[in-house]
Amino acid sequence: MTKAPVTVTVTGAAGQIGYALLFRIASGQLIDAETPIKLRLLEIPQAVKAAEGTAMELDDCAFPLLESIDITDDARTAFDGTNVALLVGARPRAKGMERGDLLEANGGIFKPQGEAINAGAADDVRVLVVGNPANTNALIAQAHAPDVPAERFTAMTRLDHNRAQTQLAQKLGVSVTDIRKLTIWGNHSATQYPDLFHAEVGGKIAAEQVEQSWLADEFIPTVAKRGAAIIDARGASSAASAANAAIDHVHTWVNGTPEGDWTSAGVVSDGSYGVPEGLISSFPVTARDGKFEIVQGLEIDEFSRERIDASVAELTEERDTVRKLGLI
Ligand code: NAD
Ligand code: LMR
Repeated sequence: MTKAPVTVTVTGAAGQIGYALLFRIASGQLIDAETPIKLRLLEIPQAVKAAEGTAMELDDCAFPLLESIDITDDARTAFDGTNVALLVGARPRAKGMERGDLLEANGGIFKPQGEAINAGAADDVRVLVVGNPANTNALIAQAHAPDVPAERFTAMTRLDHNRAQTQLAQKLGVSVTDIRKLTIWGNHSATQYPDLFHAEVGGKIAAEQVEQSWLADEFIPTVAKRGAAIIDARGASSAASAANAAIDHVHTWVNGTPEGDWTSAGVVSDGSYGVPEGLISSFPVTARDGKFEIVQGLEIDEFSRERIDASVAELTEERDTVRKLGLI
């Protein structure tokens, strides 16, 4: 049975993530295989032609679920009536830069986009910010959309989550599907904390199945610095894996997490785990009835506490910086 169409806005549609993302959305992987998709592509004027080229290719795929494609350089038009907003468009970092270096350049993009979402998005709009620094960009957009419930603004740490899953699976010689309850805490940055103390493999705590030295000196830095390692190797930041994580994030948000498992997402803090209220920080989250909920009641030992606090301190600094820049 065919369902009601969903309007999906993708910003930065002509960029490398956009190219890896749009075909998967149009093929039915974002929501489900029965929901028609209306695509809205937002680009800067100089890149509209390239987005038109991608739209021609989307047409040439004859995707049964793809109802329409609109391309615009106007944020209000792009977000009018949108149900899912994927905020990808931003300047990616180059070699030697940290994601925080992009705050000023990219912060300016997310204020007008937050305003446009506030002005015209559908009542059920869900926003995922991919463009870096993703958590603080999400905070900026959210701050400019006072009429949209704050919890509809999220930042992507699913790529970090997926990276952590594979690193652990390879270490233990198990399948990624054997891993449950992994968590990325904090910022999508080199300070993020991938937590194995609550993760389970074969029903047992993952941290107890690996050497402490591997966990502290290999696993955590490998996951936290994977973005930089990809930039080094590819000469460009991750694209297909980022698009894949964006698909996973929204699919989970809409369709739910499996029983007995959770995922990681940057969501507005309600003060849980000592993360200041209002910051957009990564937490362990379940998704039920179309809503993310922070998993409550986990015990946090000293090793984890220190690392969560360090990443949250960075988020607090980023928030203070964008406040000073007048972006929130
Ligand atoms: P890219 O440079 O290939 O594409 C970015 C696109 O955004 C360009 O086409 C550009 O014209 C467009 N753009 C710029 N300003 C815009 C605006 N105001 N409105 C609409 N479009 C705009 O970059 P990319 O590799 O696709 O990466 C996009 C962003 O995603 C970067 O910030 C990158 O760092 C980030 N990223 C995040 C994650 C994550 O896990 N959160 C992973 C990978 C990349
Ligand atoms: C990533 O994690 O791959 C992205 O955030 C790109 C980057 O700048 O690291």
